[in-house]
Amino acid sequence: MTTATVSNEEFLATVAEKSDGAALRGDYSQADARYVVQQHWDAYTEAEHALWRKLYQRQAALLPGRACQEFIDALEKMDAAHGIPDFTQTSDALFKATGWTIVAVPGLIPELTFFEHLANRRFPVTVWLRTPEEFNYIVEPDVFHDYFGHVPMLFNPVFADYMQLYGKGGLKAMSLGGLDYLARLYWYTVEFGLINTPEGLRIYGAGILSSAGEVEYCLSRGTHSHHLRLDIERCLRTLYKIDTYQETYFVIDDFQQLFDGTAPDFTPVYERLKQLPSLPANSLLAHETELLEAL
Ligand code: PHE
Ligand code: FE
Repeated sequence: MTTATVSNEEFLATVAEKSDGAALRGDYSQADARYVVQQHWDAYTEAEHALWRKLYQRQAALLPGRACQEFIDALEKMDAAHGIPDFTQTSDALFKATGWTIVAVPGLIPELTFFEHLANRRFPVTVWLRTPEEFNYIVEPDVFHDYFGHVPMLFNPVFADYMQLYGKGGLKAMSLGGLDYLARLYWYTVEFGLINTPEGLRIYGAGILSSAGEVEYCLSRGTHSHHLRLDIERCLRTLYKIDTYQETYFVIDDFQQLFDGTAPDFTPVYERLKQLPSLPANSLLAHETELLEAL
């Protein structure tokens, strides 16, 4: 999943519209009540496996010195370079490592369902692969984004706990009017997060790691984007761009910071934030320092 911003009603309306040629991709007709489907691994074509290999090779070559070591190590163990992987194999290894499993889904799913999966340590992965025309850019998350981008980090115990906490937090935020805030946190951490390491800034966000362009862009000193230490409430207030590279990246010191920063009760946080204006994606506040100085 890239983000969870679709309400249940909107979602069902979008699926219903599908018959007259509208937006949502994927076959929802076989999905169960949790939107889970069979992956049908045998049905992938050789052309799809070949496209996966091309995507994988380009992306894997960009990782050294850019992706965090936790991601690189886990990806290597997942052994998914040779074609679209069979989820059940990865899922078994993942369960042994952190108690998470992978569930196959037709595509985007309602946010309530998404949160319920995360709260139960199940990560939904889309079954279909982009077309060759979408090699460089895709709007909806596909199997390459979901699997390559997200699954490696779920092998890290602290990050895995954070993701479950996020799912529980999402369920709770639904009744507190906090979803817009929480979606920003997901966006700026799970999708576009950076981490400070002794070797320098590294990427852990799936949205970056599954995009060739942004992997290079987000760490280069020529960018006009801001790199700021993650402050949770600041992040919750910050709008984001879905159709350009990010204008702000939030940087963590370690994964424990994510867990510890989001473990407290957010009820008063949401109340506080509702009194404050949201911040444009490219804001830099007076007291904030750039962690990546431009050349
Ligand atoms: N702990 C937060 C609450 O009580 C929820 C949350 C968890 C938010 C994890 C973000 C990430 O509402
Ligand atoms: Fe995603």
